[in-house]
Amino acid sequence: MLGLKLATDPRWVTIVESNIEEILTDHAWCEQKAASNAIYIIINNSEKEELVTEMTRIALEEMEHFQMVHNIIKEKGLTLGRERKDNYVNDLVKFAKKDGSRNDALVERLLFAAMIEARSCERFRVLSQNIKDPELAKFYHDLMVSEAGHYTTFLKFARQYTEKTDVDKRWQEWIDFESSIIGNYGKSETVHG
Ligand SMILES: [Fe+2]
Ligand SMILES: [Fe+2]
Repeated sequence: MLGLKLATDPRWVTIVESNIEEILTDHAWCEQKAASNAIYIIINNSEKEELVTEMTRIALEEMEHFQMVHNIIKEKGLTLGRERKDNYVNDLVKFAKKDGSRNDALVERLLFAAMIEARSCERFRVLSQNIKDPELAKFYHDLMVSEAGHYTTFLKFARQYTEKTDVDKRWQEWIDFESSIIGNYGKSETVHG
């Protein structure tokens, strides 16, 4: 699915179900960080009209997702906790190339975003297929569809704007790295945990 090499063990959902407040809190902040990432791309690439247009749309969609998660938290009488640490994303940040031109940085940032969208989408699919709460199952199904669209958009722009980076080759390196670390996760009640 979405080029990922390894699937999440569905038993992870049992861990999630033991602490719904925790997954919802972590999830809300994932959406906020996705919106912030789109805004970051806008700030650093203001002259690229099509990119700015699409990143604006994605930032708004991600904040809409944040609002949806926050509404569920309120409906369930739970509390949105503070932002949680995301070790998975921190591993990806360490892998990302920090040197190179402004264009290299854009392409790398788009692939980093595509990677997170791909795994988040896969996690939402596993949740939608296994979680017992029917409202949450429907919610995660709808989000899975939306995040798959974001994944496609980020990869498309990486291919469209690249100057020197061989996007297919670099994307394969991202996929390979992700498959080397994902085995450490799937053990806690966070979106990428
Ligand atoms: Fe989202
Ligand atoms: Fe997204």
